[in-house]
Amino acid sequence: MTASRPKLFVKSYGCQMNVYDADRMADALAPDGYVAADGVDDADVIVLNTCHIREKASEKVYSELGRIRKMKAETGRSPVVAVAGCVAQAEGAEILRRAPVVDLVVGPQSYQRLPELLREAKAGGRPVDTEFAVEDKFERLAAPTPKAIRGRGVTAFVTVQEGCDKFCTFCVVPYTRGAEASRPVSQIVAETERLVAAGVREVTLLGQNVDAYHGEGPDGRDWSLARLLYELAEIPGLARLRYTTSHPRDMADDLIAAHRDLGKLMPYLHLPVQSGSDRILAAMNRKHTAADYLRLVERIRAARPDLALSGDFIVGFPGETDADFEATLAIAREAAYASAFTFKYSPRPGTPAADRAGQVDEGLKTERLLRLQALITEQQAAFARSLVGRRIDVLLDRPGRHPGQIAGRSPYLQPVQLVGPGAEAGDVIEAVVTDVGPNSLFAAPAGDARGSSARLAETAI
Ligand code: SAH
Ligand code: SF4
Ligand code: F3S
Repeated sequence: MTASRPKLFVKSYGCQMNVYDADRMADALAPDGYVAADGVDDADVIVLNTCHIREKASEKVYSELGRIRKMKAETGRSPVVAVAGCVAQAEGAEILRRAPVVDLVVGPQSYQRLPELLREAKAGGRPVDTEFAVEDKFERLAAPTPKAIRGRGVTAFVTVQEGCDKFCTFCVVPYTRGAEASRPVSQIVAETERLVAAGVREVTLLGQNVDAYHGEGPDGRDWSLARLLYELAEIPGLARLRYTTSHPRDMADDLIAAHRDLGKLMPYLHLPVQSGSDRILAAMNRKHTAADYLRLVERIRAARPDLALSGDFIVGFPGETDADFEATLAIAREAAYASAFTFKYSPRPGTPAADRAGQVDEGLKTERLLRLQALITEQQAAFARSLVGRRIDVLLDRPGRHPGQIAGRSPYLQPVQLVGPGAEAGDVIEAVVTDVGPNSLFAAPAGDARGSSARLAETAI
């Protein structure tokens, strides 16, 4: 009989890069025998992979730690508890003081050392490692086994760039993820090839400013994100490429051209604008105007007319007046978003805007948020409706909501429910959009449109 293997539970908050990092943590611990736990209750090691971007996100870690403390007291179990991610980076040893239940603190650029740190914690230490060791991290990022990759589905993230030098006045990321750094092209190609060999069909390249990517190419020169995309598009078996998140200032001409030239590059772009007021954009240190943004969107749409545009907005930035907010509504209308994330400004410790005069009343922030959200929801529905009757490629990725249905994603990242005869996860099939739901599209395989949509009508609620 083999001894039972230690169980690891990683809970991630925040952005996609944390999702990627969580998988790499599991991969780093796999050689030590760790397998996935079902949850906090059966784990031997619990890692909270945290987000510091807004106050609410940041406070979640302490409520979760409270629950873990209670679970420990009630069950007598004593799992090792680690805090990782951006709160770990921002607060460091302070977390140990505030939450005695925590055994170790590790930042987003040093978790490759988790195996050593866990040994130290098990020996009774309470290690804190928040060094910015991004080069070491890139080199040591543990490669998943083909079995691990298959367990994670047909889409995958690959971090290509990390950190930020932009210092928007509201944002903690430059402090939690450090300076911009890009992974060498050869590492990214090798990782993508490994994913594709194990069945991954779609890869999303991640970076805090992914379009600022400038990694070392095989020729010893720095490659742009566009050049990297052309290279990855050559990998046979890889069906789709995406990238996120882009900063408007870094959308280079060759990247716009890639949207025209590369069939594998999906017609979807997440391009945050934050505000439509030039005064607020300047106060945010975004270094572009509303008109610059709209011109840029126009150029990208000229290269790829069916582009689905997504964005981020902050309402209630210090000093934001009614007129500034109207300008935000105006730019959202003009840019015609297919989707967008909207946030109330949250003052973050250590960022310049947190101490500024003119902090906006919470009730007013909520009011503005709701108005902007209503507009975005309307735009999202209009975009979805514009697809009815059109042919789209769907990458199937999971069983559907009802028997006989299979679910996937449109090129524009919308969830799609369709009746898929003989199709399985990983297939890309051509389908005709038959209807729209609140958060997804309904479709029928092309060539079988009438029969399938009739069946769909029976099964869809
Ligand atoms: N690098 C990306 C965004 C990273 S953070 C970019 O530059 O666009 C993701 C989003 O969170 C931001 O686009 C912004 O809209 C939001 N955000 C960041 N800091 C915030 C804060 N202090 N309050 C509210 N929203 C914030
Ligand atoms: Fe934050 Fe601005 Fe950097 Fe984006 S570009 S991560 S919003 S500082
Ligand atoms: Fe949050 Fe850090 Fe990502 S602050 S949004 S987890 S980079």
